[in-house]
Amino acid sequence: MWEVRVSPCGDFDNHPFKSNHFGVEPLAAAMGAEISGIRLPELSDEGIASLKQALWKHKMVYLKDQHLTHAEHEEFAARLGPFAVDAYTQGVPEHREVHPIIKEADEVTPSLFGGGWHTDSPFLPEPPSITTLRQVEGPPYGGDTTWANTALAFKHLSKTYQDMLRPLRVHMSASNNFATQNKLRGEAIGFGDKAKQEQGLKGSFHPLVRTHPETGEPSLYICDTYAVGIKGMTTHEAHPIIDFLVRHATQHAFTCRLRWQPGMVCMWDNAATMHLGPNDYDGFRREMYRTTTAGGVPV
Ligand code: SIN
Repeated sequence: MWEVRVSPCGDFDNHPFKSNHFGVEPLAAAMGAEISGIRLPELSDEGIASLKQALWKHKMVYLKDQHLTHAEHEEFAARLGPFAVDAYTQGVPEHREVHPIIKEADEVTPSLFGGGWHTDSPFLPEPPSITTLRQVEGPPYGGDTTWANTALAFKHLSKTYQDMLRPLRVHMSASNNFATQNKLRGEAIGFGDKAKQEQGLKGSFHPLVRTHPETGEPSLYICDTYAVGIKGMTTHEAHPIIDFLVRHATQHAFTCRLRWQPGMVCMWDNAATMHLGPNDYDGFRREMYRTTTAGGVPV
């Protein structure tokens, strides 16, 4: 007999980050916050530094009514740090760092970019740190994005389980994702580029419990889409741990969900979150653009 799984309690501290540059309104108990009172292109250097602090605190922040052009989006994202090389998508002409994610109203697909719980490109030796995403057009309902706070999830494990996880290295690879996508779509998909494909399939081993490069906070580096094994374990040994951790980290209490509006911009911290965008808006157009900021080797 085991205990009934109940909602966790305690240790929820998503109180608003205090800034002299903008307002902050938390979105959920676990994470997420709306930033108000500014337009991103007009933010001073101190304002950008404060925005990054707010991001480290809330893990995902968003702003309404920004209506950025591609140039403004690219210029803003460049102020967050150097751009990462995106494994999957190509930028728009003239603004190569701004990558479209567009699903047309008449497009019906069994699988969608970002449709499973994931952190961005963890199969790379140096996965991206921040992702920004903006909406130009969206469905009247559906197409929400949901995030899970993997630092909070780590905090809510028993000390015994935490200590068991600390020395482990997770194998992140795109192999399972490609196999699943190919099966669902009935056609071979990949990165297009041979070197990217080989790196994506080979993947990388990272600390399963990583330490945030800016805050020192520990978090689970785990994901349903790309975590395929644990170093030194058989798949039969590793999968129950990965499966438990993904279910644990993505439970309702550790998440927040954003209902998009055209003109919105959001950004998230890939070192301390997972996210997904469900395939639930057939019949409506969704036009989004994203950038990714380079990150270091996870430690
Ligand atoms: C992503 O996974 O980066 C995209 C999420 C979304 O389109 O909502």
